[in-house]
Amino acid sequence: MRAKLSSEVRLEGVGKRYGALWAVQGVSLDILPGEFFTLLGPSGCGKTTLLRMIAGFALPDAGRIVVDGQPIDHIPPWQRDVGLVFQHGALWPHLSVKDNVAFGLRERKLPREEIASRVAAALSQVGLEGLEARRPSQLSGGQQQRVALARTLAVQPRLLLLDEPLSSLDAPLRAQMRLELARLQRDLAITTIYVTHDQAEALALSNRVAVLQAGSVIQEGTPEELYRRPRSRFVAEFVGAANLVPAEIVELRETGLLVEFGAGIRLPVPGDPARWRLGSRTLLCLRPEALRLEEAAIGRGMGFVGTVASRVFEGDRHLYELRIGEGTLLRVEMPALGEGRIFRLGDRVRVELNPESAVLLPPE
Ligand SMILES: Nc1ncnc2c1ncn2[C@@H]1O[C@H](COP(=O)(O)OP(=O)(O)OP(=O)(O)O)[C@@H](O)[C@H]1O
Ligand SMILES: [Mg+2]
Repeated sequence: MRAKLSSEVRLEGVGKRYGALWAVQGVSLDILPGEFFTLLGPSGCGKTTLLRMIAGFALPDAGRIVVDGQPIDHIPPWQRDVGLVFQHGALWPHLSVKDNVAFGLRERKLPREEIASRVAAALSQVGLEGLEARRPSQLSGGQQQRVALARTLAVQPRLLLLDEPLSSLDAPLRAQMRLELARLQRDLAITTIYVTHDQAEALALSNRVAVLQAGSVIQEGTPEELYRRPRSRFVAEFVGAANLVPAEIVELRETGLLVEFGAGIRLPVPGDPARWRLGSRTLLCLRPEALRLEEAAIGRGMGFVGTVASRVFEGDRHLYELRIGEGTLLRVEMPALGEGRIFRLGDRVRVELNPESAVLLPPE
């Protein structure tokens, strides 16, 4: 059961106001047919509000939403060909799994055989064959979420809207469902808009991600772009772990910049010299896994020296904190490969890095 057609969604300056508060403001996005697109942001940033407007349960106070070339403001939710799985996927407690999934199809007055075959197909897509007769209370949390998903898939929507569908599950189950969801979405090739505040989920699942802050999109891109080239402190910290070190631009070069941070450490980093002024403050973003430690005496590559302030063993890696200046600590992740040298508190070590992995951000 492939999606008949997969929708293209265009948001044009969409806004929603509750009293004096713009819960969503000036959101413009183009979501392509078959794409897995994620809205990522902290609690209260307007994710659900955006999804409700796309589904038709709320009307924008500004801008418009265009699906497959048609403005849809005047189209009621049930005619939008949209499947929405809620933040807390409410199932009918008194109905069996099968009847829960058939519910929307019966409402649409589809023929009995068509309903039976669609229910069977949807349950097999989410791996719930054999549990047709159970009630929701007789299912695990993950199974309940699968029923909610099957119920939505059964109506064969052209657009799938998922509002934190995995948030009620424990961590291992969430990781497993994440993989299943990715496979299902790939198989169905159905345009999917996914809402989450979990960056790992967003990175793992999405073709593209829009990061929302206080109702507005502050950066949009592929998971790799957001991770490697954050444009603000907010995105750098929200998408992955980041060292954000206060630094100063001390030289503008033809193809990059020289920055100084910590106790007089200087490092060439990529960046457009036309966008920075000599002497201006900046935040140097260094990902913990992009840094390598060497004994201070034998380091060769690009890098600088610091002192080990703490080390935590996490099974697959060692997590170090290095002091590189008065009050400046740097987190470094080193894979625990058995043979690799382990550094101790107080050791002088050399931090090596590929300068291409460093990013300069506006100071605040
Ligand atoms: N019906 C409403 N009336 C008034 N304010 C609302 C209403 N719905 C949402 N809000 C407010 O709009 C803002 C955005 O809410 P929304 O539910 O879209 O956030 P969210 O990003 O989905 O958050 P969460 O991750 O907690 O689900 C919040 O400040 C919220 O309090
Ligand atoms: Mg929400």
